This record gives sequence, structure tokens and C-alpha cells, in this order.
Amino acid sequence: MSSLTSEYRYFDDAPSQGAEAAAPAARAASNDALHGHLRFAGLGKRYDGAQGQVRALQGIDLTVRRGEIFGIIGRSGAGKSSLLRTINRLERPSEGRVLIDGEDIGGYDTDRLVALRRRIGMIFQHFNLLAAKTVGENVELPLRVAGVPRERRQRKVEEVLRLVGLEGKRDAYPAQLSGGQKQRVGIARALVHDPEILLCDEATSALDPETTQSILALLREINRRLRLTVVLITHEMEVIREICDRVAVLERGELVEQGPVWQVFGAPRHPATRTLLAPLQQKLPEDLLGQLQDGRRQPNDRLLLELRYTGASEREPDLAGFGMRFGGRVTLLQGGVERIQGRTLGQLLLAVADTPLATEALRRQALEVADSVEVLGYVAAA
Ligand SMILES: Nc1ncnc2c1ncn2[C@@H]1O[C@H](COP(=O)(O)OP(=O)(O)OP(=O)(O)O)[C@@H](O)[C@H]1O
Ligand SMILES: [Mg+2]
Repeated sequence: MSSLTSEYRYFDDAPSQGAEAAAPAARAASNDALHGHLRFAGLGKRYDGAQGQVRALQGIDLTVRRGEIFGIIGRSGAGKSSLLRTINRLERPSEGRVLIDGEDIGGYDTDRLVALRRRIGMIFQHFNLLAAKTVGENVELPLRVAGVPRERRQRKVEEVLRLVGLEGKRDAYPAQLSGGQKQRVGIARALVHDPEILLCDEATSALDPETTQSILALLREINRRLRLTVVLITHEMEVIREICDRVAVLERGELVEQGPVWQVFGAPRHPATRTLLAPLQQKLPEDLLGQLQDGRRQPNDRLLLELRYTGASEREPDLAGFGMRFGGRVTLLQGGVERIQGRTLGQLLLAVADTPLATEALRRQALEVADSVEVLGYVAAA
């Protein structure tokens, strides 16, 4: 095999095949069924603040599966970073437990904590690179701290720099790199101990859209090739839509919603989720809003319908079929659909004209080609 995964294992001198590898894999599989890769159970976190205690997290019960990319969203101050930081015990929970592979990490002594943190890589919004050290030295640092022999360090640094596409930048200093390249260094450094979990706290928030795309592509590649479980915080909903399998929503320290991305994005249930996703929702254009009337006044008035696709059914926006069903004209005024995790999601604003059918009959017809339909009212013919 010449895959990156096998190269990766080769450099770590770990067995990649055979009986030695099979036993832990089987153990992990049976553990997963019971506990998930990562589990929060009744987790709470309080901080002592200037004005007394701040309750940052409360009653969090959540399971992250092995190998998935799990997103966490929520407004500023909702508790996202606090939650993420309990996974590698940068924060100690005030209540409840964090379990990794079914094991409560709460009782770990210093040695076990050090070992745990090597199993968990972390990347940050502002990269956290040392300015006075080269790219190679930055990436090498965790290996030095761990006392890894020089030659193995060098090989590992080369390997992870290749993995993130920075082969030629080993001797450059962070100041000589673009934001995207700096984050690649951050990712390389997070991978030197062959972690099984990668934590990302706003890892693309300081990057422009194009660079964000390339970093997301890299994260997905790493997730697949190295079978990493990724837990990712972001305020960019597009990031969740782009690469996450499932998503959880925090609001004032509580878990208010979770599910597959298509489900949460297609039909958000909690008001906090709706607020976060509002920028992705379409609004009725001002000019139409101003003319909207309840009933049909002129025979050629147009009915405005909003068709929604939540991904919950197999329905597709068959607009031609819809028009044929009632024998009138359908115009798409605004909106669009997209495919997320193999499901159709989106909203369409339609104008329906030249039909004698009553409003309710039209709504029912539209429901044949959409998951839900809202009747907005009538506007005059164009
Ligand atoms: N070290 C600390 N001491 C005191 N209060 C803290 C500390 N860290 C976080 N908090 C408080 O806990 C709450 C949750 O903070 P946290 O950083 O987890 O939120 P967040 O969702 O990551 O926000 P952001 O999106 O702004 O990064 C906030 O009210 C914050 O002020
Ligand atoms: Mg934060």
C-alpha cells in the first residue's frame, strides 16, 4: 500500500496490519457501539468571574461517533470553546463526565493526561505558532517535548509537512507565510503524534473564503485518510454545511438541538438554531412585499408560493410538472436548492399565474413537489 495512512503508520513504527492491529480495532468497535468515540454525560462547567460564578455549560449529553466530523455552533459566549476544551482537559468539568472510548478521563493523573493530549490534536483561529521558530521547528516542538529521537522527529516533520502540502516551507518563518499556510502548519503540528481526535476552534475564521475552502478540503482529506474524529467549532454556517456530518447547537450553555447536518439545516427546530441559520434563509424581496395582497383582485394576479425542501422526503422541485398539473404558468422569482448529504434542501419563491384554481387547491398541488408550502399572497401581474 502506498496510501498516506500506511505511510503515516510506518513512520510511527506502529503495526498497520495483522493480529496486533486487529485486537484494538475490535475493541474500539465494540466500545463505539456502547459509548461512541467521545461522550459527554451530564457535563457542566462553571467559572469564577468578577461578578460571581458564570455558568458556561449545563447538562450536556452528547455522543460523537468515531470518524465523523462533528460541528458545534452557537452564539458568542454559548459555551462552545469551553465544551471543546473539556475533551483534552484544558478545562476541567465542574459536573459530569467526558468519556473517550468509554473511559472517564476525569480521574486521569498527569502522566495519563499527557498521553491523552497526544491522542488529541488541536488547531486554533490564530494558529498559535512561535514567530521566532521556523515552520519545521514549530511542527517538531511537540515531538521534542515528548522526547522523540532526532531522526524520527525529522522524518515525522517531513511526513506531516508533505501531508498538508508544505514540503518546501520547512525553513520559512511564520511571518513569511500566508494565513492559509500558517493554518497548514498548525494542522501539521496537531498531527505529529498521530492523534485519533482533532479539535478545531474557529480554524478557518481568520481566512478568506478561498483559503477557507482549501483548509476545509484538507481537513476532510485528513479525516478520511487518517480516520480522525474531528470536532469543529465555527460561526460560519457554510463550514458546517461543507464538511460536517452532524451538528450540535449550544445556547447559553445548554445543548438545544443536534442531528445530521441536512436535518438541522433543512428544518431547524430551536429558535437559537433558526437565528444562526437566518442568513442562509431567503427573504421576500421588498418590492413584492409592498404589493402583497390576501386575495386575487384581478383574474391575472399572481399567487406567490414559497416551496421548502427540508431533505425529509424524496421530493424534488419539478416545476414543469407542477405547472402541468394545474395547467397554468409557474415563474421562479428567487431561491434555489442544493444537495447536502444526498438530500435536496432549499427554498423557492414561485409566482403562479393563468389558473382558475383556488388558493388552497394550488397549495395542495405544490405540496406534491415540495416538503412544505407557504402561501404568501397575491401580487399584480408583471
Ligand atoms: N476562563 C474563564 N473565566 C471566566 N469566564 C469564562 C472563562 N472562559 C469562558 N468564560 C465564560 O463562559 C461562557 C462561555 O464561554 P466560551 O468561551 O466557552 O464561549 P464560546 O461559545 O466559545 O464563545 P465565542 O464564540 O465568543 O468564542 C462565557 O460567558 C464566557 O464569558
Ligand atoms: Mg470560543
